[in-house]
Amino acid sequence: MPGESFYLTTPIFYVNDVPHIGHAYTEVAADILTRWHRQSGDDTWLLTGTDEHGQKILRTAVANDTTPKEWADKLVRDAWLPLLETLNVANDDFIRTTDERHETAVLIFLQKLYDDGFIYKGEYEGYYCVGCEEYKQLDDLMETADGDYAGQLVCKIHGRPVEVLQETNYFFKMSQFQQPLLDLYESQPEFVQPASVRNEIISFVRSGLNDLSISRSSFDWGIQIPWDTSHVLYVWFDALLNYITAIGYGTDDEQFARRWPGTHLVGKDIARFHAVIWPAMLMAAGIQVPTQVFGHGWLLVGGEKMSKSKLTGIAPNEITDTFGSDAFRYYFMRAISFGQDGSFSWEDLSARYQSELANGFGNLASRVIAMVSRYYDGVVPSPGPYGEADLGIQKTVRDAASAANTAIARLAIHEALAAVWTIVEELNGYITIQEPWVLAKDEAPRERLGTVLYTATEGLRALAVLLSPIIPESTEVLWSALGADSLGADSDGADSLGTVWEQLLPDAGRWGQLPAGSRVTPIEPLFPRIEPAVV
Ligand code: ME8
Ligand code: MG
Repeated sequence: MPGESFYLTTPIFYVNDVPHIGHAYTEVAADILTRWHRQSGDDTWLLTGTDEHGQKILRTAVANDTTPKEWADKLVRDAWLPLLETLNVANDDFIRTTDERHETAVLIFLQKLYDDGFIYKGEYEGYYCVGCEEYKQLDDLMETADGDYAGQLVCKIHGRPVEVLQETNYFFKMSQFQQPLLDLYESQPEFVQPASVRNEIISFVRSGLNDLSISRSSFDWGIQIPWDTSHVLYVWFDALLNYITAIGYGTDDEQFARRWPGTHLVGKDIARFHAVIWPAMLMAAGIQVPTQVFGHGWLLVGGEKMSKSKLTGIAPNEITDTFGSDAFRYYFMRAISFGQDGSFSWEDLSARYQSELANGFGNLASRVIAMVSRYYDGVVPSPGPYGEADLGIQKTVRDAASAANTAIARLAIHEALAAVWTIVEELNGYITIQEPWVLAKDEAPRERLGTVLYTATEGLRALAVLLSPIIPESTEVLWSALGADSLGADSDGADSLGTVWEQLLPDAGRWGQLPAGSRVTPIEPLFPRIEPAVV
């Protein structure tokens, strides 16, 4: 019987260019959250994908002497799918807005809104930013005094001139959802998070909603409007629908009922589309609104949002080639409070790699396993009676697991990680104080040595499980080094614990799961030293 449904989505990214660490940041956070839920027994689904229609992609393709579909195919194959490999993202599905399954379901949705009177034909006159793929109000624009665009109105986000549009378009009656949306934010305070984004959204909707132009007739790279094929669908209306077309809206009712409603993880740059336009679309179609829209913060470069269009992007593999994907995942989740902006720095990454991953965690694992190998021939000893210090470790593990589980439920990934890290710190302190190498010199305290090393090894068991959603590669290595997945003849008939992925996170804090008698195997450093020349 599957557990509670947890359906999480990332934005579907524009394929105008290759990904940078900002996109990787969203993917990693989403992967950690879904791995956590999956290992909590929830019926979990992670969707990611690419946004391939609209003028931005069309113009990029034209500039590169190719067709938009060929361009998208190439970028997806060479850049966006490989990103998921690089980062170790265990997504369940990958949707492209050019997929037939998407286009078919979009037509069903559109026709329904049209038949139900939510769409009408009208005149649009205003500004449009192709970088944002968004209709702009004057507030969103500024006049530049100098530079290439002196005297022109430019988009505040992209710093490029907006285009003046005057077209006959189809409109979605979004204005009539102003009050229902305000009621939604009021009655479900968790609907938009964090609070800073929620406040921004509420004040935006309070200031009034216009109807939304949802079609364009000046170019044809998009999904054709079913009742008027001289228009293509506005790219955001198309893109937002991916969240339901991918899980069977209009085509597979059972799958749709099983997954929906979902949680949308996005950057705060696109929170408005997700927390205003999207729920209004769903309300019009009589579909449940999402469980939550969470707008995380930005990775900044020189105080500004890292961006493709400003060429300030750092490629994820510049980091993973040297530090590995676990360190990438760890660093961004540890160094930045999830929900807030943060700056990336090579110095901070190197320093944390060395002190937290290599010295703090990696060393702890190597030392403990080496001592079990040396003093007990690799067989985890049985503990004797527990004293105060040992019970202290048990409490640390229990409290850390419980705090981490609570934090993840609030999407506070950094808090979960900080809670788990108390185990690393306490265990290191415990070993320094207990001095197992001193106990090992003498036969008399043999039982005490067993208690200390059992405590340390069982602490590693808990760490491997609790860190597995965050640093899956090294925890998998640690897990087999602990012998937990392959209990042999020495283990008094105890059953193997199975793979680390089969361990349940809500149970991770329960003491005494690693059976005495497990056979450890020495490991290479989990986070090897990185030569300064490389950094
Ligand atoms: O907006 N810091 O796609 P996009 C953190 N296709 N995250 C960042 C970031 C940064 N500096 N830069 C980008 C689109 N991101 C639409 C979405 S969804 C129906 C359609 C991440 O390629 C963050 O998740 O511009 C942000 O919201 C997203 O990339 C924007 O990606
Ligand atoms: Mg963008």
